[in-house]
Amino acid sequence: MNENHYSQAARYIQNKIGEAPEIGLILGSGLGVLADEIENAVKMPYEEIPGFPVSTVEGHAGQLVYGTLKGARVIAMQGRFHFYEGYDMQKVVFPVRVLQQIGIKTLIVTNAAGGINEQFQPGDLMLITDHINNMGTNPLIGPNEEQFGVRFPDLSQAYSRKLLELARETAAEIGVPVREGVYVANTGPVYETPAEIRMLRTWGGDAVGMSTVPEVVTARHAGLDVLGISCISNMAAGILDQPLSHDEVIETTEKVKSSFLSLVKETIAKIAKA
Ligand code: HPA
Repeated sequence: MNENHYSQAARYIQNKIGEAPEIGLILGSGLGVLADEIENAVKMPYEEIPGFPVSTVEGHAGQLVYGTLKGARVIAMQGRFHFYEGYDMQKVVFPVRVLQQIGIKTLIVTNAAGGINEQFQPGDLMLITDHINNMGTNPLIGPNEEQFGVRFPDLSQAYSRKLLELARETAAEIGVPVREGVYVANTGPVYETPAEIRMLRTWGGDAVGMSTVPEVVTARHAGLDVLGISCISNMAAGILDQPLSHDEVIETTEKVKSSFLSLVKETIAKIAKA
């Protein structure tokens, strides 16, 4: 991936939308409906954008949607690229760099995740306070792309304290209960074993998923402020005496859709005003 690839995609998007978005959104499994709420939407299927990978997993539509949401100019990824699909890390994070190039300052990342914390319940929303990269790789491996950021980026505040506070306040104001915790990223595509979940709990993990960390690392490298929200779609392996399935993940996200939508939209309204 070189500078040209990013700027080609960025130019294509800029020509379609004409103005710079402020906030980027990455919508996880079952959470893509948020993009349907965007007003005056300009939709750009991934296959039309030069250099963009094409997403394959069920529950992901695969397009960028630009428009306004609660008075803010936003651009949403309806469907993301997962490492387990076989994309290399450069492809997984390609869109984040393109969004940074077209001018976003804030990135809101969402995902469906398994609850490791036994206090959690399926359907809970969790503000991500920190993460553990258990993917065994990192999107910044390779020559440093100086135009984005430094060789050794600081992750001591990967998730913006200011955005966390805004999201917390918003949740309280609209009466949507939220949890907070540490997101662990595994590569997938298998769900974890019960022994792995016990290990991740001793590490300090509260939720586990197969995404988000590569995008957040890349966003922080490029100086974006990040807010992360997990929808706890199931309890992680071994907590309940039942197998895990993607259908359960989609069913739960379907159920919490309205509180998830309100939380993200009202938080965006606050960010736009801040
Ligand atoms: N593990 C990993 N990824 C997930 C899970 C899980 O339990 N639920 C949703 N995504």
